[in-house]
Amino acid sequence: MIILGIESSCDETAAAVVKDGRRILSSIIASQIDTHSQYGGVVPELASRMHIEAIGPVVDQAIQKAGICLDDIDAVAATRGPGLIGALLVGFSFAKALAWARKLPLAGVNHLEAHIYSLLLLEHPPSFPFIALVVSGGHTNVYHVTSPHEFELLGQTRDDAAGEAFDKVSKMMGLGYPGGPVIEELAKGRDPSLIKFPRSLLGKESLDFSFSGLKSSVARHLHDHPHVTQDDKSQVAASFQAAVIDVLTTKLLRAARLKGCTQIGVAGGVSANQTFVQALTRRGGKQGIEVFAPPISLCGDNAAMIAARGFTMIQSKDFCNLDHDVFSRTRI
Ligand code: KG4
Ligand code: ZN
Repeated sequence: MIILGIESSCDETAAAVVKDGRRILSSIIASQIDTHSQYGGVVPELASRMHIEAIGPVVDQAIQKAGICLDDIDAVAATRGPGLIGALLVGFSFAKALAWARKLPLAGVNHLEAHIYSLLLLEHPPSFPFIALVVSGGHTNVYHVTSPHEFELLGQTRDDAAGEAFDKVSKMMGLGYPGGPVIEELAKGRDPSLIKFPRSLLGKESLDFSFSGLKSSVARHLHDHPHVTQDDKSQVAASFQAAVIDVLTTKLLRAARLKGCTQIGVAGGVSANQTFVQALTRRGGKQGIEVFAPPISLCGDNAAMIAARGFTMIQSKDFCNLDHDVFSRTRI
């Protein structure tokens, strides 16, 4: 079965062609980052307009690169939510129209479930049940994934998402948007223990997260040390990143212990952070836990993961029709 996946929930317009839910024939991503970085974050109205301009050419390119034609497509899958409502509407409406015109089944995919499916696209994917972290600019959610359709939410952030904290700390130091890659680069080779930023664990059993205290602590540090050199920024970056990684790692190992899982997968933009993945792999390894992360090309928003999740929805006859609308809130 050949599925065309479409993603437009935030600032990437993406289309992909995936065979049988596992084989990526093409994956095209048109990023809007250069536009939004001028404003220090994603501007929703601009995002919607840019999706409208990009969606047609991006889908055409995905079909062409896959070496197929429109007639070869058996089903369409598009992100239905959560995300920016105007942005979602562009991709979902496009998918609805295409599915209707070609009389194809349509899957309305949950974006967070799709990030988990980026792990199932790995050559050696985790097996059920496993613990999954979806960590991006909008979410820090831990799930117990027990089957292709069951995602039990174990914990989430009570304030900022981890990626959002990276972006805000980057902004405070004048390093631009998105913050994650810049901070990871600056932190390389620095001793992260020199500045002691707080680790908010919210009690012994909690699987929730809070990054606002850490963010304020970095802001206070910068306020108290007004003449920051590039070298100081690297130090702050390393110590801040270590605090985030420490909290994420501790909670994931806690979740694995509580649920008796021996496999943990991380997905979403922040899972591109190799320092994080390596730390989790090291600490997990000591407890007999195996760690999975997507290749960098599938960490951020992409449509291959949408098609992969769409495949299992189509298989279980979980279809959308023209009456279905997008949703902006998390549903899982
Ligand atoms: O999944 P994504 O592309 O979009 C959504 O937010 O849904 O994630 C983007 C987020 C941004 O906050 C960005 O700073 C963060 O992922 N990010 C990183 C890294 N690369 C991207 N955070 C830490 N380290 C990175 N290397
Ligand atoms: Zn995402």
